[in-house]
Amino acid sequence: MKILFLDQSGKPGGAELCLIDIAKPYRDCALVGLFADGNFRKLLVQNHIPVEVLTNQSIAVRKQSNLLQAFASVGQLAPLITKVVKIAYQYDLIYANTQKALVVGAIASIITRRPLVYHLHDILSSEHFSQTNLRIAINLANHCASLVIANSQASRTAFIQAGGKPEITEVVYNGFEPQNYHTSNDEIQKIRQQLGLENKFVVGHFSRLSPWKGQHILIAALAQLPPQVTVILVGDALFGEQDYVEQLHQQIAQLGLENRVKFLGFRADIPQLMAACNLVTHTSTAPEPFGRVIVEAMLCGTPVVAAKAGGAVELVEQGVNGFLVTPGEPQALAQVINTCIQETEITAKIATQARDIASQRFHVANINQQIAQLISHLQGNRK
Ligand code: UDP
Ligand code: GLC
Repeated sequence: MKILFLDQSGKPGGAELCLIDIAKPYRDCALVGLFADGNFRKLLVQNHIPVEVLTNQSIAVRKQSNLLQAFASVGQLAPLITKVVKIAYQYDLIYANTQKALVVGAIASIITRRPLVYHLHDILSSEHFSQTNLRIAINLANHCASLVIANSQASRTAFIQAGGKPEITEVVYNGFEPQNYHTSNDEIQKIRQQLGLENKFVVGHFSRLSPWKGQHILIAALAQLPPQVTVILVGDALFGEQDYVEQLHQQIAQLGLENRVKFLGFRADIPQLMAACNLVTHTSTAPEPFGRVIVEAMLCGTPVVAAKAGGAVELVEQGVNGFLVTPGEPQALAQVINTCIQETEITAKIATQARDIASQRFHVANINQQIAQLISHLQGNRK
């Protein structure tokens, strides 16, 4: 099947990394159309997935825009829509991976009569989006999409609660290639040496730097932990959250933790870095739609503590394949980290179990099969 994938971002966030795995099996007859240039395009090229940046104009719709701004931006989208329509005639299906891609993809789908799939990577609630944006997303999905793929039950439930049609919505988790998450002991030693982490209990945090990802919660917890505990913050402020980065540095200085926190920026060697950690923490203060980093830590065999909300609750079963803590509570997080430091045997057992379960449950081959099955029903079913 010839698929035109659309994604608004030039930057490799979780939704974009997920799309690489979804588009790969179709790469001989697919195109990924982006609405911005950046490192995501380079990753697609590295994976031999055809990609085209469809506009160099920045699109002004924000997560919190009102109706007037939304209408103005649809006008602004006209050249992009014209281009997408022209391309879409050469494909069998349009696959929108983000909200702005849904807007453009929906209009192109109506004009070209190609079926539309919307991959929903967000929890569509007022915590993250304005009422206007929510209404636009739900209405377009309900009226134009033949299928909505939600990245978790939590995302599916929020979609339905906001008025989305249950009958077109299926849950498919992100897929991963377990082999990519095996790191040798030599490599681990090398990384720890390079980063000056020998003899430390290393707690890793692997998210973009953004207030709702809650790096500040981990820093506050660190202040309550023994001195051998060191934190690595891996990730960048992908969407311009520089104020938050400043706040984190201030918080670290106020707590006198400068020698116990390392900012590593955006890295491409996530499996190796996670393997070099004693523990990975996920500290989102708002419900996480899915949480790739949680599964990745499991695949690395590193114990993981996740914030108990959203998709994370579907991924982690307390005491079986990881640990869950109440979001936004540094003291509770510090307690769990302390337990992991002390109870090494049981923690290691949980991490091994987590690796075994995750290798099956999130295997990219199984996940891609689920997607192939869902979209095969849409072929020849043009509206
Ligand atoms: N990631 C990365 N380099 C970094 C930090 C994060 O490649 O420096 C990856 C991480 O491994 C994960 C993705 O970015 O696959 C983040 O996805 P997640 O679902 O955890 O959160 P999102 O940012 O999409 O909300
Ligand atoms: C989004 C969500 C994240 C999810 C990713 C992949 O970026 O914020 O929770 O893991 O998409 O579906």
